[in-house]
Parts: sequence; C-alpha cells; structure tokens
Amino acid sequence: MTGGDQPIPGYNGLSRVEPTLPTQFYLDADHYERELRKIWYRNWVYVCRASELVGPRAFRVFTIGSQQILILRDQDEELRAFHNTCRHRGSLLMQKPCGRLPGPTITCPYHSWAYDLQGNLRRTPTRSEQRDFDKEDYSLYDVGVRDWNGFVFVHLDPENARPLEESFDDSHILDHWQLADLVVGHTYEKIINCNWKVFWENFSECLHCPNIHPQLSQTVPLYKQYFMETRDDPEWEAHQRAGDVLYKPGLAEGKETWSKDGSPCAEYFPELTAEEIARGHTYCEMIPSAFVVGHVDYVRAVRLRPLGPETTEFQAQWLFREESVAAAGFDPSGVVEFGQQVIDEDGAVAELNQRGLHSIRHERGALMAEEYAVHDFHVWVLAQLD
Ligand code: FES
Ligand SMILES: [Fe+2]
Repeated sequence: MTGGDQPIPGYNGLSRVEPTLPTQFYLDADHYERELRKIWYRNWVYVCRASELVGPRAFRVFTIGSQQILILRDQDEELRAFHNTCRHRGSLLMQKPCGRLPGPTITCPYHSWAYDLQGNLRRTPTRSEQRDFDKEDYSLYDVGVRDWNGFVFVHLDPENARPLEESFDDSHILDHWQLADLVVGHTYEKIINCNWKVFWENFSECLHCPNIHPQLSQTVPLYKQYFMETRDDPEWEAHQRAGDVLYKPGLAEGKETWSKDGSPCAEYFPELTAEEIARGHTYCEMIPSAFVVGHVDYVRAVRLRPLGPETTEFQAQWLFREESVAAAGFDPSGVVEFGQQVIDEDGAVAELNQRGLHSIRHERGALMAEEYAVHDFHVWVLAQLD
C-alpha cells in the first residue's frame, strides 16, 4: 500500500518499512561462523566451470570458510568431491590448489593411507592391521557434487541437500542460452572488503543505480527510475499503458546488449525467443554463492565466496559460444569493460556500506518500498539461521 489503504494490483514494492538485519550480522566473527555453518555448509555452492576440471584425475581444492574440499574426476571422468582430510589422523591430503593426480590413488602425505578416486580406503602402511579394523569404515568424507549445465556445485551436507535446481530462483530461465557448451572468454576477480550479504543486498535493488551506475542507467531505462522491473513502479500500469519510454522495460532504444555502445560482440544465441531478446538481460540467482545472467550475445557468471566477516571474494566470468570466440574479428572488450565498470562501481559502494556499518549507533537500517528483494533476502537469511 502506498499513501491510501488499498494495495496496488501487481505492484512489487514494500507496503511498510522493514528493518534491515542487525548490524552485528555484518561485523561479528562469531556470527560469521554461524552463517558459515548454517548457510554456506548447508547450501549448494558454486565452484567453477566443468571445463576447469578436464580429464581423468584432474583435481581442484576449493575452500569454503574453514573447509577444504577436494573435487576431482575419477578414471571414468565422473565428478567426485570429498573433504580434503585423511581419515587416519586428519592430515590435509592435497596441498596443491589444482592439478592432475599422477595415478588412480589419493595418498596422504603423512602416513600414506591410500584411497581410490571413489574415496575408498585401499591401503595403510601398518604391518599388523588390527582384527577390528575395517577399511570400509574409513572412506573419505563425502561431499555432494553436481555439474549443472557446465557449472560445478558442491554441498557439504549431501545427505540433507535438497535438489540443486530447487535452490535456484528459476532453474529453467536460461534454458535457451546453451549454458553447458559455453567457453570462458574472460575472467575478472577481486576482493571486496564487505560482508557477503552486503553484496547480495546491493544486487537486490536499483535505488542506487542512477547515482552509482550512470552509464548502465543509460542502457536500462528502468534503472534510471530506481527500478529493477516495471512492477517496482507504483504507477506501473499507467506508465506501461502510455508506452512512456522513460519506463520502457528491457534496454534503451538502439541498445541490444550490456556493452559500451550497446552493440553485441557476437551472433545472438540462436534459440532465444523474441521476449528474451527484448528483455536484454535474464537473471538466474543461486543464492548464496552465484548468479548467472544471459544477454543476447554472452553470459556472465558471478561467484561469491566469503573470506571473513568483512571480506568477500568476487569472480565474474564472461561465457561465449565456441563459434563466437572462433569468429574472425571477435572482440569482447566492449562487453567486458562495460561489465567490469559496473562491478567496480558496485564493489566500491559495497565497501562504503561496510565501513559505515561500524558506527556504534547504527543497530539496524530501514528498507524503502523498492527494496522488497533485499527484504526477501533477509527473510531467507533469517530462515536459514533458525
Ligand atoms: S593422517 Fe593421513 S595417513 Fe596418517
Ligand atoms: Fe549495482
């Protein structure tokens, strides 16, 4: 409801002021540990593209909080994932961040317990194995792993994991982008000095867009109006009926994609519908660790990883069709530079937000109508912590 008592049909905005999460959720080391245990160790977490783990015995070690996960391909190229910890006395197993195992065995560097690539204990060095010792009791600690359209996810609590697709807001929304076959054309990584939730909050609203992203707001008219979608506008029906260009959904006239001049760097994905082309950007969220956005000519995949209460690792990858990359004169610099500018603008304002949270007077903030998706995120966080 805005002003009067009647809700506006179809309007997304919050009808009342909602408080933000308590400030300590963004600063406190104990709370951070709690979020690792309740959120990051209990949800699917995006690791890398499947193309970054190619061939039998390829491996990577991926760290989430204090947990080291060993992800590998077995002899049949099936993905496997385990805690990178030996079942004997708990030594770390793999010490390199990535590579290829020399043979079909994972051997502990301490006392040489040897496991096969399915995680089964095969050998120990003892000369006199006790009668009550059963190797089957000492397989590596299992971690859930899935390849979803070329994106590799892990889950630290596989027995209680819900299906991966259910943790996306809409796992079919990018079906026409041929995700499984795309190749990485560019990677951009940075450390953002903010709590991981500050990143998602900033991602979930466009009240900051006209001020923080002047160039992007020229590309997406609604962003210039502080909106993410047409229905964020209390007068959405009137504006859409009138066809007002200031409130036009999708991209501005003459712009086809998110790039410096609005022109694409490659042929359109061939299966896109007219609606998907007109939309200009199609988002799929995989909270807490990733989102993927499809444009007419490329896909951008973002991965987040918390490194501490006030530190988050950010990675963006620009994905293209193989044919696009191989085409004569292919030049992704226009889309890459445009995206990196938006990322840097968001990163800077997220750090500003984090620094301000240190005020001993600021116990909570308040959400405005347009920040309904920030509120949804907060509701999700609180439910996870329950
Ligand atoms: S801790 Fe791994 S073999 Fe002893
Ligand atoms: Fe932004």
